Amino acid sequence: MNSTTNELDWRSDKVPVSKVFDDPYFSLDNGLAETKHVFIEGNGLSERFRDGFSIAELGFGTGLNFLTTVLSWREQQCSGILRFTSFEAFPLQPHDMTRALLAFDELQDIANEFAPYWLGLLENGKIMLPDVELSLIQGDARSQVSNWTGLADCWYLDGFAPAKNPELWGEEILQAVYDRTHLKGTFATYTAAGFVRKNLQRAGFEVIRIAGFGRKRHMTHGYKSASDAK
Ligand SMILES: C[S@@+](CC[C@H](N)C(=O)[O-])C[C@H]1O[C@@H](n2cnc3c(N)ncnc32)[C@H](O)[C@@H]1O
Repeated sequence: MNSTTNELDWRSDKVPVSKVFDDPYFSLDNGLAETKHVFIEGNGLSERFRDGFSIAELGFGTGLNFLTTVLSWREQQCSGILRFTSFEAFPLQPHDMTRALLAFDELQDIANEFAPYWLGLLENGKIMLPDVELSLIQGDARSQVSNWTGLADCWYLDGFAPAKNPELWGEEILQAVYDRTHLKGTFATYTAAGFVRKNLQRAGFEVIRIAGFGRKRHMTHGYKSASDAK
């Protein structure tokens, strides 16, 4: 890891690709539809949203998952506050986030609403609006998740592909994720890599393989059922 880790290439002038991890920030096919399938539906959020619902994410990237989630929360006219905490070691610059989000027509209004806040988010780690509270915890998630004192109702596991970034899918960090999940809390991820599923199981999650998005045959979701849950 070093400070150049968030240097980007742009595929088709639209999709940011990390030069160091050699992996795109979102699906080249349809990143927004994949986010909805994997993270929103994969965590069953439309039936679960309630005041104070807490989502945690590994890898904030462009903010695509966050904005898609806020859109879904608002579409359901949920009352109260959605809490979203994201762990990010190599934050993108606001102008790169804005450029990446241009790929999604459906997100333009909400991307424009949040664009003025990105710089403050990088400096202060927080955006607080009447309906949404976003916390960005900078640094290596392998140590930062263990230091986090919160508990999540659901997790978005969205590091780069396990083959490109195995460090974000290791036994210790997935144990820390499990330890910071409420009883009956869930996780979802686009990957169905065997070692990731094994690490999630070892941590204590019930792990289920389901149909993936687009050309990906499988993805993984699961939940915390054990009585040792907090
Ligand atoms: C696939 S991208 C995330 C996409 C993002 N969720 C979005 O909505 O655009 C993976 C992210 O994980 C971050 N990352 C990689 N290794 C990390 C680590 N050890 N700790 C924290 N973040 C890491 C990368 O900087 C990148 O932003």
